[in-house]
Amino acid sequence: MLLAVANDKGGVGKTTTSIHWVRWLSQRSQKVLLIDCDKQGSAREWGKSLGFNVRDMPDSNDLLEFLPKLSREWDWIVVDGPAGNSEVCKSILMCADLILIPCQPTGLDLRASNEMLRVVRSLQSLRQGLPKAYLFLSRANSNTILYRESVEILNDLGFPYLKQYISNKQAIARCAGEGTTVFDQGIRDSIQEFDNLFSEVNYG
Ligand SMILES: Nc1ncnc2c1ncn2[C@@H]1O[C@H](COP(=O)(O)OP(=O)(O)O)[C@@H](O)[C@H]1O
Ligand SMILES: [Mg+2]
Repeated sequence: MLLAVANDKGGVGKTTTSIHWVRWLSQRSQKVLLIDCDKQGSAREWGKSLGFNVRDMPDSNDLLEFLPKLSREWDWIVVDGPAGNSEVCKSILMCADLILIPCQPTGLDLRASNEMLRVVRSLQSLRQGLPKAYLFLSRANSNTILYRESVEILNDLGFPYLKQYISNKQAIARCAGEGTTVFDQGIRDSIQEFDNLFSEVNYG
């Protein structure tokens, strides 16, 4: 199954989510591949330090050509999308079975994702409902007014979203710097959040 984490905006937690998704899926299957579409290569480096199967694929035409072939060879593929490259992002959306769209919990960020949600909806009508897509709140401080307002905006958007959010935590940011994950570090509350998030997805 071809999974992807996408959002045009940078810094919303795409790479962090991709890495943790691969780590979570690796507990269920041997055949998991991470594809890094960002020229910066941060997912590639982070994934390598965890021993993941990783490939670079920053070119939109390569994605269109190779993603369908690769998805027949691997049980799970997680594609980590780039920021601000709409061509690459569209190629990912055209091939993926299911995408997660991390969004920071502010009205500004949620509204900025509207353009991308439009593309997703258009593709879904062309591809018999694919890619299945879910928004979720990332880097959230759940005890703030901003967070509560964001949940209201999510409800108004009418776009599927995951109830589980990922909290803004120093420990998560530190995992990126150290090339590890909250699962490997035993950071219990974050493990619970990622576990709930990935379990809430309907893969069927
Ligand atoms: N839940 C979180 N709590 C704290 N910091 C986070 C969290 N998720 C991501 N970060 C940090 O925010 C920055 C951007 O995250 P990243 O996953 O690279 O986003 P993107 O791939 O969308 O650009 C990184 O420094 C990362 O460590
Ligand atoms: Mg990234």
